[in-house]
Amino acid sequence: IDSNKTPDAKMLAICELLKAEIPHYDWVGFYFKNGDKRELKLGQYAGTPTDHTIIPFGKGICGQVAESNENFVVPDVQAQDNYIACSITVKSEIVVPLFLNGENIGQIDIDSNTPDPFTKADETFLEFVNFEVAKIL
Ligand code: SME
Repeated sequence: IDSNKTPDAKMLAICELLKAEIPHYDWVGFYFKNGDKRELKLGQYAGTPTDHTIIPFGKGICGQVAESNENFVVPDVQAQDNYIACSITVKSEIVVPLFLNGENIGQIDIDSNTPDPFTKADETFLEFVNFEVAKIL
């Protein structure tokens, strides 16, 4: 990632890299807490544009992670009742919170068109990605 880029450009490059290089990552994006509102706002992403650019805390997988501060792995999105569908092709999802100085300020969200593809290795890897992203914010 080019060190001359802005934080947004770096995050976009990370989204594009992850989507391109990891076969089961079909949509990759960052959501961040929207000011002092209890909602998430979509930041940089790679993949099909989504209508869900604002997600209230508690709503969907993303909104639940905003409150739980914990990774959320969804092997089968159809089995979730508190889920916001972005695309009918999506089968599974992983959301990992992003901490800055110990505070949950956002998250990385990955959608996959593959059923049940996410393992502990994805969680560990995405925690590392978020740890690195926090350093550039
Ligand atoms: N599926 C998410 C919404 C965001 S889209 O995946 C991009 C959710 O349930 O929170």
